[in-house]
Amino acid sequence: MKKQTAEHGRRAFLKSSLAFGAVSMVAPVTSVAAVSEIEDEFKVIAGPCLQTSFNNAISVLWVTNKNAASWVEYGLSPNNLDKKAYGKSEFGLKPIGTINVVQLNNLQPGANYYYRVVSKEIKEFQPYKLTYGTVLNADVQSFINTDTNKAEVNFVMLNDIHDRPQSIPTLLDLDKGTKHDFVFFNGDIFDYQTNEPQIIDHFLQPCTNAFAKNIPFVYVRGNHETRGKYCRELPQYFASVGYDAFTLGPVRFVILDTGEDKEDTHPVYAGIVDFDEYRREQAALLKKEIESRAFKKAKFRVVMMHIPPRFSGEAHGPLHCTEVFEPLLNRGKVDLVLSGHTHRYKIHQPGEGPNQYPLVIGGGPKEGARTLTKVRITPNELTLKLIKDDGTEVGSYSIKK
Ligand SMILES: [Fe+2]
Repeated sequence: MKKQTAEHGRRAFLKSSLAFGAVSMVAPVTSVAAVSEIEDEFKVIAGPCLQTSFNNAISVLWVTNKNAASWVEYGLSPNNLDKKAYGKSEFGLKPIGTINVVQLNNLQPGANYYYRVVSKEIKEFQPYKLTYGTVLNADVQSFINTDTNKAEVNFVMLNDIHDRPQSIPTLLDLDKGTKHDFVFFNGDIFDYQTNEPQIIDHFLQPCTNAFAKNIPFVYVRGNHETRGKYCRELPQYFASVGYDAFTLGPVRFVILDTGEDKEDTHPVYAGIVDFDEYRREQAALLKKEIESRAFKKAKFRVVMMHIPPRFSGEAHGPLHCTEVFEPLLNRGKVDLVLSGHTHRYKIHQPGEGPNQYPLVIGGGPKEGARTLTKVRITPNELTLKLIKDDGTEVGSYSIKK
C-alpha cells in the first residue's frame, strides 16, 4: 500500500506523543493506560455506506474493530426507527463478526428513510454463555429509497482511482449541485488487494465521508481488484461486486465483471485464476438479459463494464471481452457502454469499428487525466458529459429517443 492508513497514522501519532511525554516526564504511566484504552475501545471503523441495485432494497455496510452481533434499525421518522434488519442468516445462524452487510427490503418507493447501525460487542463466546460488551448506537442517517418509476435519472461514474482516495471527493466536487441517484465505481479503485485497512482507508471511509451515508454507490470490480493476497476477501465488504442488472426510470442498467487482462496461464497468476470461464458466464448472463422483457421494453439500455469491449489494446482480456460481449451488445441494441481501464478518456462513436454502440471511456488515476462522467437521462434524452479534474468539459454525448 502506498499511503499510511488513518489508523496506523493515529497509532504512530499516539506512540510519538507518548515518547515525548516520557522524555518530558509528563504523566507517562496514565497516558499509556489511556492510549491502550482508546485503542481497545469497541468502535465502528468504517461506514456506514449504502450500496444498492434498487428495486426497493438497499444494503448498509459497516465494519467494527471487534466481533459483534449487529443490525440496522430504520423507519420513516428519525424518532421512530421501528423496523430492524439483520445480515443474511446462513444455516440458521445470524452473522456475527466485524464486517456487516445488512439489506433493507420492501422499502416504499420514493420514501425518505432514517436508519442507525447498531453493533453489540461480543466479549466472550462460550458454548453455553455468550457475554456481550458495549452496545454501539451510531448516529441516525437518512436516505431516499429511489422510486424506480421516476422520470429522470442522474448519476456519475468514477473509474480507475488506483489507491488515490483523495480523488473520490475531488472528482465528486465537480458535480456538487446535482442530486445523484447513485455514484458508480467502474473498477480499479485499488492497485491490488492487500488488507482491510486499504479497503477502509482507500474506499469505504472516503465514500462515507463524501456521500455514502445518504446516497448509495454501485460498484463493479476492475482487473486490479482481482489481484493481491486479499482479493478473495474483497467481496465480503460489498453487497455485490460482479454482474448485476436493474431498471431505474427509463433505463435498464447492466453491469458486467470483465475479469483480468492477461491470459489465465500467465505466470503472474500462478495457476489460480479462471477468468476465461468467468467471462463466458458473464456473457451468458448478458445473453439472458438482452432477451428479457425488462431489457427489451426499456427506453435506454446502458452497459457498464471496466475493460472496454473494444479499443483497449491487444492483451488477451480485452480481446476476449470483444469476442464474448460485443456480438451481444450489438444484438441487444445497447445505447451506451461505459468503461475505464485504458487511463485515457475517450468517446468512441458507434460504427467506428464493428461496434454499433457508443463507448465512453473515463480517464486515468493521475492528476490531469482524471475524469468524472456525468450522466442525465430524461424520458426522451440521455446526455453525458466528461469532466476533467480541473473542471473543464472534455467530451459529451447525447442520444434522443
Ligand atoms: Fe483496469
